Amino acid sequence: MKINLDKAINILKNGELIIFPTETVYGLGGDATNKKTIKKIYKLKKRPIINPIICHFKNINQIEKNFLITPRAYDLANKFWPGPLTLILEKKDSSHINSILSNNNKFVGCRIPNNQIALNLLNEIDFPIAAPSANISSKLSSTRISHISDILLKNAYFVDGGESLYGLESTVVKVIDDKNAQILRLGSITLEQIKKIIPNTKIDNVKNSLVSPGQLTKHYSPNKNIRINVDYVKEDESLLNFGSNDLKSKILELNLSHDSNLEEASKNFYNFLHILDKSNCKGIAIANIPNEGLGKTLNDRLMRAASIE
Ligand code: TXA
Ligand code: MG
Repeated sequence: MKINLDKAINILKNGELIIFPTETVYGLGGDATNKKTIKKIYKLKKRPIINPIICHFKNINQIEKNFLITPRAYDLANKFWPGPLTLILEKKDSSHINSILSNNNKFVGCRIPNNQIALNLLNEIDFPIAAPSANISSKLSSTRISHISDILLKNAYFVDGGESLYGLESTVVKVIDDKNAQILRLGSITLEQIKKIIPNTKIDNVKNSLVSPGQLTKHYSPNKNIRINVDYVKEDESLLNFGSNDLKSKILELNLSHDSNLEEASKNFYNFLHILDKSNCKGIAIANIPNEGLGKTLNDRLMRAASIE
């Protein structure tokens, strides 16, 4: 697929917003050095200003110019970049990245996306792209352009890159020192994959919303009510199933993976939730998903989607 990116590049250079593909989910992006642009992102997404935004870079040199990278952070960066890892790094005083992006905190989430369109865009501009997921705050992320709400499409130019490769957001990691690291958000890279690369570092899975403000509160949620780990489906519920079992819906059933493959399930996850959310149901019943590997990320998203707040 050959896509003309000139318009998207001009829009970025003019301080306006684009919706663009990454290997995880679609992003709503703009110039990370432009305060007005970042304010537009917060406003359009209805995102609280205390919830920091990830910065996307073309390569590690550009990150090194702006941030300090500690040895264990390098280990992770060398293994997973470009890819679905976000490292929280300390900004250098000389950096032009606007501080509003991290609520004036010097620690900023950074990643290099592994998507050709995203990298082509980044290679044509001389600033990083600030981009949260392309959805209204607390709603479902988007893995296809068709998932994106009208209000975002009206206010940002979109580049269609087809279906996202992984379908779950990046894993957010903060390396504290050689001995300690924190996972602030589970994602497309599993805890086990991280542990393998930094085996002598203790890794905490942090669930504290003050450390990672995008966590804990209701998030990643469809409009309909959801019930998780179900052993039966109500008359008025659609069903998000996994593997083989006797669960049945009278309205609509979609199976994340008949073969219980967690990678396949991750790729289908948001797409199926978007479809079920639009079905003629009162709620969505969700089958049990094993709590291992990517299943931990899926369960993390479902717990937040199901939370009452
Ligand atoms: O895969 C992804 O990460 C996608 C694509 C577009 O890159 N982006 C994404 O961004 O999911 P967003 O804004 O929807 O989620 C970013 C998460 C939030 O939970 C936020 O609180 C956390 O990362 N985060 C970002 N910067 C942070 C920082 N400086 N300190 C702590 N947590 C941070
Ligand atoms: Mg998000």
